Amino acid sequence: MNNNRPIGIFDSGVGGITVFKEIRKHLPYENIIYFGDTKHNPYGSKSKETVTRLSTGNVQFLLGKNVKYVVVACNTASALSLPLLKTFYSVPMIGVVDTGAKAALAATENGKIGVIGTRATIESRAYLKALLKLNKSLKIKSLACPLFVPLVEEGWAKTKVAELTAFEYLKAFKEFKADTLVLGCTHYPFLKPVIRRILKTTRLIDSATETAKAVKQELAANSMLRENKNKAAAAFYVTDATARFQKIANSFLGYDIGKVRLVEVE
Ligand code: DGL
Repeated sequence: MNNNRPIGIFDSGVGGITVFKEIRKHLPYENIIYFGDTKHNPYGSKSKETVTRLSTGNVQFLLGKNVKYVVVACNTASALSLPLLKTFYSVPMIGVVDTGAKAALAATENGKIGVIGTRATIESRAYLKALLKLNKSLKIKSLACPLFVPLVEEGWAKTKVAELTAFEYLKAFKEFKADTLVLGCTHYPFLKPVIRRILKTTRLIDSATETAKAVKQELAANSMLRENKNKAAAAFYVTDATARFQKIANSFLGYDIGKVRLVEVE
C-alpha cells in the first residue's frame, strides 16, 4: 500500500471539524481529505436507512480520492451505519462510538456514565450497547439534546441561551450522579466551556480526541503511517454552502482552511 495516500474523514457537515482538528494534531504528517455533506445536514433527525444511504455515497466519494483509511466523524453515521459500511468496503474504517465508549470506561470511577447525542444516535442505543459490551455492570443514562447543534451552528455556543439550554438538559445527569459524560455528537466539544460550568466535576469524554488517538495507533500498528515528513495537505469538500462551512471551520480552527470545493455526491 502507498502510505502517502490521504486519510478520509466524513461528517454530515462542519461538526466533524472537531475530529479533523484532533487528527491534524495527532497526525501532523498525514494528508487529509475532509468531506462534509452539508446539503443533507442534519443526519441526527434522519432514519437509519437514509443515513446509511448518504454515508455510502460519502465513502464512495472518499474512495474516489484514493484514501487509505476512512474516519466516520459523524456520531449519527457511526451509530446507525458503520457496522453495515464495514461489510460493504474493504478500506479500514473507524467511527467515533467505540472509541468514545472505551474512553468513558477508562475515565469512570463510580460506574455511572451519561451519554448525550442527537435523537438518532440516542435512539439507536449504539453508545449504550458499546458501553455494556465493555462492562455490563455500568449504569448509563442517555439523553438526546437536539437544540445543541443549531446553537453551535448559530455561533451561540458561549451565550446565555446555550447555558440555559445546557442547564435544562444536563440537570438529569446531576441527579443521576454520573461522574463521566460522553459528548456523543461532533458539535458538542464546542459547548465544553458551558457544560463544564454546569457539571463541574464530571469528566467530559470528547470522542474526537479519542478517535484521533485510535487512528494514530491503528495506522502505526499496520505500518500505514505516511513516510514523508514534509508538510501535509488538507482538502475540504462539501455538498452545499461552501462559504458557511469555511466561516465556521476557520473560526473553530483559528486559521484559514483555504478553498472549500463544492461537489455533487449520489
Ligand atoms: N454530525 C452529527 C453527529 O455527530 C451532528 C449533526 C447532524 O445532526 O447532522 O451526530
